Amino acid sequence: MSFFSTRRNFLKATGLAGAATLTGAIGCKAPARKHPHVGGLACEPLERVNVGVIGLGMRGPGAVYRLSAIPGTHVVALADLFKTRVDKAAKWLAENKGGTPRLFAGETDAWKRLVEDPEVNLVYIASPWQMHVEMVKHALECGKHVACEVPMVFTVEDCWDIVNLAEEKRRHCMLLENCCYGETEMLALNLVRNEILGTLVHGEGAYIHDLRGWNFRAGSYEGFWRLKWNAQHTGNPYATHGLGPICQYMNVGRGDQMRVLTAMNSGGFGFPEYVKAHQADIDALKAKSDGAKYGMSDKEALTGPWAQGDMCTAIIKTVNGRTIMVQHDTTSPRPYTRINLISGTKGILKDYPLQIALDPKYAAPHLGWASDAELRKLVAQYGHPLWKQSGELAKRLGGHGGMDFLMDLRLSYCLQNGLPLDINVYESCQWSVLAELTETSSKHDGAPVEVPDFTRGAWKEIQPLGIETVTDDFLNKDAKAGQQMSV
Ligand SMILES: NC(=O)c1ccc[n+]([C@@H]2O[C@H](COP(=O)([O-])OP(=O)(O)OC[C@H]3O[C@@H](n4cnc5c(N)ncnc54)[C@H](O)[C@@H]3O)[C@@H](O)[C@H]2O)c1
Repeated sequence: MSFFSTRRNFLKATGLAGAATLTGAIGCKAPARKHPHVGGLACEPLERVNVGVIGLGMRGPGAVYRLSAIPGTHVVALADLFKTRVDKAAKWLAENKGGTPRLFAGETDAWKRLVEDPEVNLVYIASPWQMHVEMVKHALECGKHVACEVPMVFTVEDCWDIVNLAEEKRRHCMLLENCCYGETEMLALNLVRNEILGTLVHGEGAYIHDLRGWNFRAGSYEGFWRLKWNAQHTGNPYATHGLGPICQYMNVGRGDQMRVLTAMNSGGFGFPEYVKAHQADIDALKAKSDGAKYGMSDKEALTGPWAQGDMCTAIIKTVNGRTIMVQHDTTSPRPYTRINLISGTKGILKDYPLQIALDPKYAAPHLGWASDAELRKLVAQYGHPLWKQSGELAKRLGGHGGMDFLMDLRLSYCLQNGLPLDINVYESCQWSVLAELTETSSKHDGAPVEVPDFTRGAWKEIQPLGIETVTDDFLNKDAKAGQQMSV
């Protein structure tokens, strides 16, 4: 396929023909801005954060527990397809928090009534990927703040719709990127902000997690939504865990901006071999599975073929000349890693396991990975203040070692104090949209794709994320009222 037909296809897919492109890159044009940007949006403080949680499968219930532990934060409504799931979460709330949330279940669009519930001022979405865009858009249309599980949105066209709505309604729209609150990610952010790594040059992030078993299991992903995505798409649908933290270190969207991306996928060998090795179990699963949603039947999804190439490797170049490598592989037997590598002119941090090396010119005695003792010293000195302040509490209250709790804590704290959120709508869209950009590039043998600037130039003035915490007063609010923070 020639470059020109490639470019035309991408423009058609994005619905944004007539694009101005970088030389040689597949590109698309930004629609005109109608409202001021919401890069540092601060809204009226909420006296109570009244949360409506949609989706109570594997991920959602943990959010209900965590949110209801946070001062001033109340889960007032719950929605899921299955009544048993809302009832279970409601029972937990009644027994542990004395809450009586409104329940919405049974129909595909019962969640709309949760969004429209006048008491709900934050819609918190933990539903399958295929439902996210519709839910986010309806929440914004109803004038609600919205927080959505990763990834929030998959196409450039849907990103523009969400950005335009957030700008028009002046509401927060935050991607729930919990990995931005991981202990080593926040350590890295603090090292960067203290200029210990020098001028940043390159970052690497990933989502490498063997999910083969989860995809072929009854009762895990509702309606086999993830397997169906893998059957219909390649590229990297789940870039944000690795990419989000790197963007925060580099101030991407806040002083720098992604410019161009190239991506390649390997072939898809993992699923076919897995199915062959588990044929009897999968045949039994197929016999019991007669659903059809998310674009195909369960039987088709369980049979294959699957479009997803196992390993997707993307490289992004920013306006300021930095590079970011992002990988995705959920179909190979590999130990979990997000890589989390950030390197600059004075040193490097990488994770899995955590290692730091600093240029001896700046930090004696040697160039090479810091010893265990040196590493402990660096962690003690540069651990993020939020982790120093609330890390123990977060570990006790849970969610991926505490990072999920810190994310929810900061979200609710900012809403109650009328502060900008840590992740704005532009970052939410830009990190998520690698789904389409990597798929487009990968399908064309790594052709460069222009990364849309959802800020429409405002990245030059949006302030970098600082080293943020919450106040002790906030943490102790309920303790003063005689309650201990618990789940
Ligand atoms: N940040 C993280 O670390 C992390 C971890 C796991 C999952 N996730 C994300 O969380 C989301 C949910 O994943 P999961 O593993 O819980 O999936 P899941 O399939 O277990 O749960 C999804 C829930 O949504 C419900 N649902 C589906 N359609 C609905 C509708 N129309 N109305 C109301 N509810 C509906 C399902 O019944 C199900 O209970 C995904 O976006 C996933 O990527 C994030």
